[in-house]
Amino acid sequence: MNLAPFRIEQYYGRHEFTAELMFSSSDAETITIGELLALEPGAADLLAVQRLGYTESPGAPSLRQAIASIYEACGAADVLVVAAAEEGIFAAYHALLGPADHVVVETPCYESALVLARSTGAEVTEWHRRYADGWAHDLEELERILRPNTRLVYVNTPHNPTGTNMSRAVLDRVVELCAERGAWLFCDEVYREIEHDPGDRLPAACDLYERAISLGSMSKTYGLPGLRLGWLASRDRGALDRVLDFKHYTTISSSAPSELLSEIALRHRDLLAGRNRSIVLANLPLLDAFFERHAQTFSWVRPNASPIGFPRVEGVGEVTAFCERLVTETGVLLLPGTVYDEPEHVRFGYGRANMPEALARLESWLG
Ligand SMILES: Cc1ncc(COP(=O)(O)O)c(C=O)c1O
Repeated sequence: MNLAPFRIEQYYGRHEFTAELMFSSSDAETITIGELLALEPGAADLLAVQRLGYTESPGAPSLRQAIASIYEACGAADVLVVAAAEEGIFAAYHALLGPADHVVVETPCYESALVLARSTGAEVTEWHRRYADGWAHDLEELERILRPNTRLVYVNTPHNPTGTNMSRAVLDRVVELCAERGAWLFCDEVYREIEHDPGDRLPAACDLYERAISLGSMSKTYGLPGLRLGWLASRDRGALDRVLDFKHYTTISSSAPSELLSEIALRHRDLLAGRNRSIVLANLPLLDAFFERHAQTFSWVRPNASPIGFPRVEGVGEVTAFCERLVTETGVLLLPGTVYDEPEHVRFGYGRANMPEALARLESWLG
């Protein structure tokens, strides 16, 4: 398997743990283990007696039950726990796809969605969204690029990097097009539940279509990426069984303490998501005002979900050099759009409580 380097992770690998202020993170504000355990009487005792043996490969039954409560039509048996969403993408693609297959991937995207699809040997076509079109989903283009051997369509909503949520009409049409061809719809929903207006929340794809696979994660909305825990939910048990067979060659089973902590966190997911939504809603107007003051430099399609956005940036020279200069001189980390093949954009993150400080530093640096 020949994998192109993961440019987002390479860039973060260089800066994430040395930059003073993250201003591009896709994971919302985190909490400590102590704060998590304090959410529930008896939780600390549960952790203390948690055995450090292997766990069940599909995930602890009680965790799968807690995850299933997120969905309408999926039960615990329709959930497969994975070691973070990243493993879910890798294992699902490799379990379900091969060189005879065609795959459609919505772009720009979290890089592994594209690179790992290619690594299966399948032929991959990008369903590309453009800033000039307001990041609209071009359904006619999707229809054009679908083929009789299209086995899987990857979409991501709410979307990394634009922070936009798909409309219900688009999702319904995507489901219809997949259903006509019997294709899997792999819907990356790791930013679900942090829509800025909860009324915009879409149904999970796995609740809409039997061959949809919804990807979920503890990392983003709940702000708990250190748990390294995610899941796939689908009523296509045959597909989940194939992914499970693949998982036996990657992690076998997930981390026992992470499974327990995730289950506790999911019992309080409304509280964790609500707290992070409040941070997002407090930070967004500050960014709006900043972009207004710097309208010659930044312009964006205002995000309506997630803790990230992807403005266009002009007049700052090459964006990677701009971001490198910024982090070196101020300790503030933005993510250059070059890692998404979008060299006129930068990714901002506004899900952290200290965003106003990062913004103030950026603004005084810009002068
Ligand atoms: C769209 C998308 N999918 C999957 C992932 C991977 O998430 P995890 O930390 O759960 O592996 C990310 C992380 O940035 C993401 O943005």
